[in-house]
Amino acid sequence: MTLIRVRNLWFKYYEEGPWILRDINLVVYPGDLILVYGPNGSGKSTVAKLIAGLKVFYQGKVKGDIEVCGIDVLKEPERAVEVLGYVAEDPESQLLTPLVIDELILTPINLGIDLNTSIKIAKEIAEIMRIKHLLNKSTNELSAGEAQRVALSAALTIKPRAIVMDEPLAYLDFESANTFVKYVAKLASSGASIIVFENIFHQ
Ligand SMILES: Nc1ncnc2c1ncn2[C@@H]1O[C@H](COP(=O)(O)OP(=O)(O)O)[C@@H](O)[C@H]1O
Ligand SMILES: [Mg+2]
Repeated sequence: MTLIRVRNLWFKYYEEGPWILRDINLVVYPGDLILVYGPNGSGKSTVAKLIAGLKVFYQGKVKGDIEVCGIDVLKEPERAVEVLGYVAEDPESQLLTPLVIDELILTPINLGIDLNTSIKIAKEIAEIMRIKHLLNKSTNELSAGEAQRVALSAALTIKPRAIVMDEPLAYLDFESANTFVKYVAKLASSGASIIVFENIFHQ
């Protein structure tokens, strides 16, 4: 059984532009922890966003198939959030709410989980990712590293079966990166499929 399958994916941002992605194929099984790496401009974020079902791409031209946990993401992009955790390259742009605790309960609430359970889930992930001290902080007071840890935690609240992370280590110090990598490896060993996009040439 595959959790993520990308087949013959082509993409360009505008009609007259060049193909940015040319025939990308990727199969990810439960328990896989995959690193996709490449230099700036190689198309990592474009692939990540397409898999996450981001609507920004409707202006562009796409060919091929993306399936995540049985959902046809190019046909029903809004459903990707049901099964997939996505962390954008710029974590600050991904924080939507005034308080960190709100950020962590957002996805559970949107998926119909009641408030008390959502808060419990938020506190659990905050404990694991060592951001409990940030829960009552305003999201626009966070440092880049803190914002990244909050965005990563928010993506992990519902224990998604598939996780796509775009340069998740970019702003993390060694200890936070270590905590995060260990937790991600644990999620993979419990059956999640994880794709990490990194620009390792800079690190
Ligand atoms: N919104 C956009 N409109 C037009 N071109 C874009 C847009 N975003 C990225 N690109 C181009 O697509 C290519 C791949 O970019 P990107 O996916 O961000 O690569 P990476 O994440 O590997 O740095 C680059 O040439 C970039 O200039
Ligand atoms: Mg990128």
